[in-house]
Amino acid sequence: MSQKSRLETALLKPIKHNIISIIDKKRRGGTHTEKEIRFLVETMVSGETADYQVSAWLMATCIQGLNLEETTWLTRAFVDSGEVLDLSSIEGVIVDKHSTGGVGDKATLVLVPLLAVSGVHVVKLSGRGLGFTGGTIDKLEAIPNFHVALSNEEILAQMKSIGAAISSQTTDLAPADGKMYALRDVTATVDSIPLIAASVVSKKIATGAQAIVLDIKVGRGAFMKTREDAQALAKTCRKVGQQLGRSISTVISSMDQPLGYSIGHTLEVIEALETLKGEGPGDLRELCLKLGSVLLVSAGISPNLEKAEAQLATHLDDGTAYKKFQELVSAQGGDLEALEDTSLMPQPERIRIFPASKSGYVKTLDSLKIAQAAKLLGAGRTTKETPIDLGVGVILRKKIGDFVEAGEALVELFVGKKHDEEAFEQLKEAILLSDTPVTPPPLVDEVSLSATNF
Ligand code: URA
Repeated sequence: MSQKSRLETALLKPIKHNIISIIDKKRRGGTHTEKEIRFLVETMVSGETADYQVSAWLMATCIQGLNLEETTWLTRAFVDSGEVLDLSSIEGVIVDKHSTGGVGDKATLVLVPLLAVSGVHVVKLSGRGLGFTGGTIDKLEAIPNFHVALSNEEILAQMKSIGAAISSQTTDLAPADGKMYALRDVTATVDSIPLIAASVVSKKIATGAQAIVLDIKVGRGAFMKTREDAQALAKTCRKVGQQLGRSISTVISSMDQPLGYSIGHTLEVIEALETLKGEGPGDLRELCLKLGSVLLVSAGISPNLEKAEAQLATHLDDGTAYKKFQELVSAQGGDLEALEDTSLMPQPERIRIFPASKSGYVKTLDSLKIAQAAKLLGAGRTTKETPIDLGVGVILRKKIGDFVEAGEALVELFVGKKHDEEAFEQLKEAILLSDTPVTPPPLVDEVSLSATNF
């Protein structure tokens, strides 16, 4: 539609259905009706409302906010813009998890098989990364031949056969969120609490799970920089879920340093495999046990978090979770040999050490800057089309609070075709050392459990 005819259409609409008045209302701090929000979302999807108009509304909303009712209506309009995965033919409780985005966060790779051997079914539709590092789907592609794009029928069949599936998001689920997110990404309007809540919750509702846990990240490497904002986002997500009849629990976890030691695709798969075998970094294991136990209690499988954690820990330590991961990889066409011989996954060309400039205690490990360093090595994309190098990344040799001797390795850079100089320089800014001992930040800040009503 031309600009002129778009304007004519806008002017001809009754005032409550006029996109210009909707933008103006929010700009002045007004409260939308459900009809206005639905109109905005529907006309955005149809193309009747232009991207620049949606962008103007997004900026007004970022500044003025949305109340709980408006956020719920926006969430519902996103859900209604596409299909809802029909999981009614699957017996048993279906659970799902989502993280608001963390550096080195490979928890999904551990949690999906772990939960599937603990009495629930797990469906996980994940995205590709567009920020500094790749998403879960990119990580899984480090396993040769792993088929990431399952159809709805394939997801259902796999849930019935092995109780778990991880797939890229089919475009039919909450497509309005996808469209609005793409605009938010390029208009500095991502970090708004109601917009994040509507985006995350709508995708979880469309996936069809009965019990959902959201891992709300807080700190340097997260959208939510403060505890108060993370708590507000968690509360909004739980309340929107409640309004829309879904049980949403939340865990607030720290992104003041990366999760685990590895950032990069092959490297993160290897760390997830170690964790699935009862080894791996303590913080990754702790987070997986926390998120998993919240889901088991919420789903009515375990009476309390302690019992649930103990059950999950047993499944990591006795190899049953790892076996389920093998089943999942096999069901999705992946090369099982690569799980045993990880040199079959994409590899770097060389490894370079980043040494400590002096002796001291690690005080800062800036997640965002470390992720940027990994991206400079080729582990992240700038546009959807940018190819990523699955073999590159970084392994931290120390975490916050650890002591390091001058000259000792702080980080290993897994370098591919790209120059590593800029990444090396970036690490100098990311890591600060202190002469006095440093207490590491707690990983899990707050757990809010919602019970599921069946
Ligand atoms: N993750 C999402 O899916 N949406 C957001 O808005 C932010 C993080």
